[in-house]
Amino acid sequence: MKKKPHGAAVPMIAVHRKGKKPLHRQIYDAFRTMILERRLQPGQQIPSTRALAGELGISRIPVLGAYAQLLAEGYIESRSGAGTFVTSSLSDQFLGARPTVVASVVSDPASDAISRVSRLLPVEGTPWFLGSGAFSVGQIAYDHFPFRVWSDLVTYHARRVRASSMNYSDPMGSEDFREVIAGYLRTARAVHCEASQIMVVNGSQHALDLSARVLLDPDSPVWIEEPGYVFLRHALTLSGCRLVPVPVDSEGLDVAAGIKLCRNARVAYVTPSHQYPLGATMSAARRLQLLEWAHSVGAWIVEDDYDSEYRYESMPVASMQGLDPGARVIYIGTFSKVLFPSLRLGYMVIPPALVSRFLTVRQTNDLCPSHLYQAALADFISAGHFTRHIRKTRQLYAERRNALALALRREFSSEIERSEMEILGAEAGMHLVVTLPPGLSDQKISARAAQENLWLWPLSAAYASPHVRQGFILGFGGTKADEMLHQVRRLRKAMRNESGYGGRTQSGH
Ligand SMILES: Cc1ncc(COP(=O)(O)O)c(C=O)c1O
Repeated sequence: MKKKPHGAAVPMIAVHRKGKKPLHRQIYDAFRTMILERRLQPGQQIPSTRALAGELGISRIPVLGAYAQLLAEGYIESRSGAGTFVTSSLSDQFLGARPTVVASVVSDPASDAISRVSRLLPVEGTPWFLGSGAFSVGQIAYDHFPFRVWSDLVTYHARRVRASSMNYSDPMGSEDFREVIAGYLRTARAVHCEASQIMVVNGSQHALDLSARVLLDPDSPVWIEEPGYVFLRHALTLSGCRLVPVPVDSEGLDVAAGIKLCRNARVAYVTPSHQYPLGATMSAARRLQLLEWAHSVGAWIVEDDYDSEYRYESMPVASMQGLDPGARVIYIGTFSKVLFPSLRLGYMVIPPALVSRFLTVRQTNDLCPSHLYQAALADFISAGHFTRHIRKTRQLYAERRNALALALRREFSSEIERSEMEILGAEAGMHLVVTLPPGLSDQKISARAAQENLWLWPLSAAYASPHVRQGFILGFGGTKADEMLHQVRRLRKAMRNESGYGGRTQSGH
């Protein structure tokens, strides 16, 4: 049930007691302008006359006069027992005057008033990103989330908010929570760490951005995986660094190729447990080679361990950070995949020598993490719910992954047989990749499919260089196994609709 608001925000109104206009007229004009310019929206509650008079430090009489005039002219309406609102039926025609200044500055691509690096990022054209439904990447099994346990814990902590937890807190995150994370990482991920090295962040994207701010100068050369994670590329682009895309193969990042391209890179960003998006696990030989390189040139390695909890054919692979006694690795993890993405909680394990740098930089872009979810999640993990949930969802996602791979093999059997299409990276995580036959554009198909609620992340967008493979990154976490075949048929239909692609299948669809 939607709760009734307890009080409307007081709009910014400047009244001049000694001005030429009487006070009631000043208030009337201010509201009228805000309503016509849609700064106050139809249906929005406005403050009571008493609250507004109190806020403006004037008597209630001019406010009553202004409201009476606005009521009489139909700009506002009062609802008995609920308060006063901007009239909800005001038509667009009536609200003709729109704010133009703000919109024109922001949307003018030729404007010089924004930074050069921010202009390098695409501002539109990714309709598949925010959708939730079949194949959406990063979507979890909401139907198996322990809602009851989670909401009980959140409620418990919300009811016990203390003054101490309302103040600015440790920029590294709550001590209890960091102890719990350190315990989990040492046991489950073989990470070498103490709680003092753990920084709680707003998801791994925040950590990637922070690492760029701390480690990079404009023009610093940086290895990134090719293909790789598009939002890492964007974060690095904003830093002004020089991207060096290094190819990946079935053993992960090709270290020898990286050395040939640019030996003296400052940082290498890698996803060794489950290369994003193609899915390779970095081999032991490559891990050691990468560490050796980092030590020899004094580079840092940022290990983005975004979904390592989910591995289906073998035990989870130990972290790379745990292999490195020399502390060149910055390790990043997230709760977005095991729990849910809007939680916005992740962590980094920072080499001791860099902790104070990261802390200072973090304070410039986010003073400290918020208290409530840290407290609830610390209890959730300590009480064993986290591990239980991983065990349960690992089995569930294995079933969903099997169903998706089976459905793809069935619907695209001839293409797969002719090696025109390939399924990659299904051994771990919550997505796999299917490549497309020659001549098809993944981005065109994805844009069209998004209109039909089918969320296909185009593989080509994961490449920094123009030598791209066409395909789709398909999330399977949020789609039930018995719906998979139906969704794959929709995918085939989307391919046909966009490009007239026919192909042949065993089932004849
Ligand atoms: C490789 C990789 N890194 C980082 C992230 C960011 O995750 P979050 O910021 O939700 O923790 C994602 C999200 O899908 C990802 O795939």
